[in-house]
Amino acid sequence: MRIGDFDFYRELLIGKSGLVLTPDKCYLLDSRLTPVAKKWGYPSLDAMTIALRGVADRKLVTDVVEAMTTNETSFFRDKRPFELFEKHVLPYLAKTRASKRSIRIWCAASSSGQEPYSLGMILKENDRMFPGWRFDIHATDISNEILDHARAGLYTQFEVQRGLPIQLLLKYFTQQGEKWQLSDAVRKMVRFENFNLLESLKPLGQFDVVFCRNVLIYFDEKTKRKVLEGITEILAPDGFLFLGGAETVLGITDRFKPMPNQRGLYVLSGSGHSLDTPGTSGQSSPLAQTRVSP
Ligand SMILES: C[S@@+](CC[C@H](N)C(=O)[O-])C[C@H]1O[C@@H](n2cnc3c(N)ncnc32)[C@H](O)[C@@H]1O
Repeated sequence: MRIGDFDFYRELLIGKSGLVLTPDKCYLLDSRLTPVAKKWGYPSLDAMTIALRGVADRKLVTDVVEAMTTNETSFFRDKRPFELFEKHVLPYLAKTRASKRSIRIWCAASSSGQEPYSLGMILKENDRMFPGWRFDIHATDISNEILDHARAGLYTQFEVQRGLPIQLLLKYFTQQGEKWQLSDAVRKMVRFENFNLLESLKPLGQFDVVFCRNVLIYFDEKTKRKVLEGITEILAPDGFLFLGGAETVLGITDRFKPMPNQRGLYVLSGSGHSLDTPGTSGQSSPLAQTRVSP
């Protein structure tokens, strides 16, 4: 690919999605955009690039951005954030949201759905703590294709083998040929919507918990700060933010502080949180159960 074309795609991606394309990722342009060029009937990637430089079809631009996203995810990814959610955050919310009996959770870059559905299964497993409560798990992503996958709730053997305890597989999924279909009961707990993190977050409303995991790593510092500060405006004053293992607020914004000894969990600065509440559900943790073996 020509240097000028690389610069063109770098500007396009950062402007439309915040994704930073570094020169060492140049090969991704060829491998991911050649199929897009083919789908759109261009004889080559160069021909598509020429078209994009002109008055490009907006749908083509969308397809290019979607193709450049990395959708890597898994059920209960990294395990620990989901343990913290179940053992610390949920008991806290059970107490503090008892009068309104509702909890709102936002998965800010939900990919193919494993993250919000993992939260849905945890809520189901702990439903004795929440009689008659309303849960809203709002899951968003910039990619329509990945959102379609998420909404279907249909996963391959490979996907369910990654992080999903076997007891939860047997309880919430049914086998359909070579795939596994998530139950309607869990699927209905999650509302999927296309949303670009570069937009204003305010229209989404207020959330008790935000999972914004493994997406800030793809952004530059300015965009990370903008997203994190946007989250301060939609998070309840005593709400919780989960970031990915390679992500932090440190050196980016002081509006959040990390919870001591709770890696990946952040609260608003000045919220006065101390999360030492033990789990109170009396039910065994789904995460303590055996993983699906390959
Ligand atoms: C690596 S996945 C992370 C999935 C999940 N949160 C996890 O931790 O397993 C990153 C997701 O961020 C989405 N994404 C990238 N840029 C985005 C943006 N500007 N707005 C919303 N989603 C974006 C991608 O489409 C992709 O599905």
